[in-house]
Amino acid sequence: MAVQINPSILSADFSRLAEEAKAVEGADWLHVDVMDNHFVPNLTIGVPVVEALGKATDTPLDCHLMIEDPDRWAPQYVEAGAGSVTFHAEAAAAPVRLAREIRAKGARASMALKPATPIDQYEDLLPELDMVLVMTVEPGFGGQAFLDIMLPKIRRTRELISKHGLEMWLQVDGGVAASTIERCAEAGADVFVAGSAVYGAQDPAKAVEELRGLARQ
Ligand code: DX5
Ligand code: ZN
Repeated sequence: MAVQINPSILSADFSRLAEEAKAVEGADWLHVDVMDNHFVPNLTIGVPVVEALGKATDTPLDCHLMIEDPDRWAPQYVEAGAGSVTFHAEAAAAPVRLAREIRAKGARASMALKPATPIDQYEDLLPELDMVLVMTVEPGFGGQAFLDIMLPKIRRTRELISKHGLEMWLQVDGGVAASTIERCAEAGADVFVAGSAVYGAQDPAKAVEELRGLARQ
């Protein structure tokens, strides 16, 4: 299984976003956390900043929408240049239609699950998606402690992906660091978001490669 490391720009210096994006150009994707202060109790960035970031880096953008009404907004993030758009299962009114629209516009479609949302009820939707994101913290903030209790859900999601013979990716986000990434990989994750573990390091590019090495073992 190919391993991908996606640094989260949420932990970067927002006054120097272009430089911070360039600092991790060996990464597979740049993870962009979009929050609306309704779906989660925090407010970050929106479409214009995503558009500017896309011009500032060659790394493709992985936009994680922690917003209400993604049915309305997600397509705009594809138009702004995102290569992958993740909406939350709890927020989407019509996830199948939304995933199809994201794909039709040319991006990868992905669905995220908060810690209390089980994967099983979404089994039938998996073929409509390019990735599932299992949150390993409650969404809203960087720097939170990894929730070990999510490991069974990662395992279960991998089981369902295999059962249906799908090529889709399984992403984990929240508290992913050198101390937790091996457990995530062992449970079946192949795409790893890391915010504080990358941007909190002296050398962010080196931190990406260290995480990659640990996830591969
Ligand atoms: C949390 C965000 C994460 C966050 C991860 O709601 O979705 O992407 O940036 O940060 P760390 O890796 O510090 O937990
Ligand atoms: Zn995220």
